[in-house]
Amino acid sequence: NKAKIVLDKDFIISKIDEKVFGSFVEPLGRCIYGGIYEPGHPAADEKGFRRDVLELTKPLNVTLNRFPGGNYVSTFRWEDGIGPKEKRPRRAEVAWQSIETNQFGINEFADWSKLNGSDVMMTVNLATRGVLEAMDCVEYCNFKEGTYWSDLRISHGYKEPHGYRYWCLTNEIDGVWQVGQKTGTDYGRIAREASKGMKLLDENIKTVLAGSSSPSQDSFPSFDAAALEESYEFIDYLSIHQYIGNAKNDTPNYLAKPLITDKYLKTAIATIDYIKAKTKSKNKVNISFDEFNTWHSIAEEARFNNKWRIAPPLLEDEYTLEDALALGGMLLAVLKNADRVEIACISELVNCISHIRTRNGGGAWVLPPYYTFLLFSKYGRGTSLVTSISSPKYDSTDFTDVPYLDAAATMDDNGDVTIFAINRSTEETLPLETELRGFENYRVETHIVLTSANPKDTNTEECPNYVTPKNNGDAQIDGNKVLANLPRLSWNVIRLQ
Ligand code: AHR
Repeated sequence: NKAKIVLDKDFIISKIDEKVFGSFVEPLGRCIYGGIYEPGHPAADEKGFRRDVLELTKPLNVTLNRFPGGNYVSTFRWEDGIGPKEKRPRRAEVAWQSIETNQFGINEFADWSKLNGSDVMMTVNLATRGVLEAMDCVEYCNFKEGTYWSDLRISHGYKEPHGYRYWCLTNEIDGVWQVGQKTGTDYGRIAREASKGMKLLDENIKTVLAGSSSPSQDSFPSFDAAALEESYEFIDYLSIHQYIGNAKNDTPNYLAKPLITDKYLKTAIATIDYIKAKTKSKNKVNISFDEFNTWHSIAEEARFNNKWRIAPPLLEDEYTLEDALALGGMLLAVLKNADRVEIACISELVNCISHIRTRNGGGAWVLPPYYTFLLFSKYGRGTSLVTSISSPKYDSTDFTDVPYLDAAATMDDNGDVTIFAINRSTEETLPLETELRGFENYRVETHIVLTSANPKDTNTEECPNYVTPKNNGDAQIDGNKVLANLPRLSWNVIRLQ
């Protein structure tokens, strides 16, 4: 009942794009207000950014942060959040049924991102606004000087353009929950014209077409195909989103769900390539998987019972060990498709659907999946290697032949190898043998294990270190083999040097 991986130095998937270590920040609930920004908090700096939260976001080494939405974008007026704060309008924000004070806008996010060391992927509203407003936003953010919008930015204290390179052309416009929902064809046309206009203002930008919001949308992949057919020549990425959950409280079934992620990415890639062939285009379009995570309160209507509050606590799910493993499976799917997934943003960064939790006026702590992403971001860089896997299997409620082992492997620029491996079994340790081909004289530098006694174990403000990774795995080299025992329900990071 052993699992096996074969790694060959010559068998690579591709270089891993740095932009797959991305995240997402939306003015939703307490992600921004009470999360990264809380003027008056004892740990806030002079701009109101919480230093204690930055201490938790920085180690994640997020390369690219998508902003500001999300569903929020469908009625987003980007101009509301610029200029003197006291003059900014309050709005009824319909997506999250909250009051938006606009105290944190484009420029505040630029400042915060610099502190955090991440770039920004900006999003324009093509659901309820048009091409010209999208172009104005590019002019404000990226045009050097001497025009209405660029000079306005300079008058706001930002002499240098923000120079944002990646631009999302609205969000999840396939969804019935979106104000301004469109068909693939109607959306593809406006996205094409917006992208055209935006690129005429700044030829360096890359644009992201909003594709399906979930693999379970009936319109996937026909919506994506229709939107791509209208816009293929003018855009650079197709965005897709996915959230998985454990509504049936069935851990083995939940942990199999990243199999859907892999299939979803491959189907979206095939759809892109079909439209490329159909339109006889030479343009290369890749995937921006710019929202994904586990999410349990997704269908919870109660969140809208108490409307029109400022930064209410919304979507603050309890995240546990099993979520850390389910997320791990989604991250491995990104690595396995690294040849076409160039952007990936875990959703979201703080409080909402997030693994960093804060208390207003109080502390900040992290939940178990935080460590899954941290280790992925730290060791998942370089080249993605082909992992030929054989593993014992199980059947679950919705899946058959689920391998107990899920794995991916990377090699960094120094030649160090990392094997990421999940043991999905709720019962048994899984012995793993990795055969190394073409990797000579390597030793095990460390074998990090994230696990706990119970799949529902988690961290709290009172007990913030209950589930943390430990350097206590037993991986060892035996000739050209790495032998390890993967504890039941564990996320393993085996480092070879
Ligand atoms: O991340 C929460 C929401 O999930 C986003 O606003 C939306 O894009 C998705 O449906």
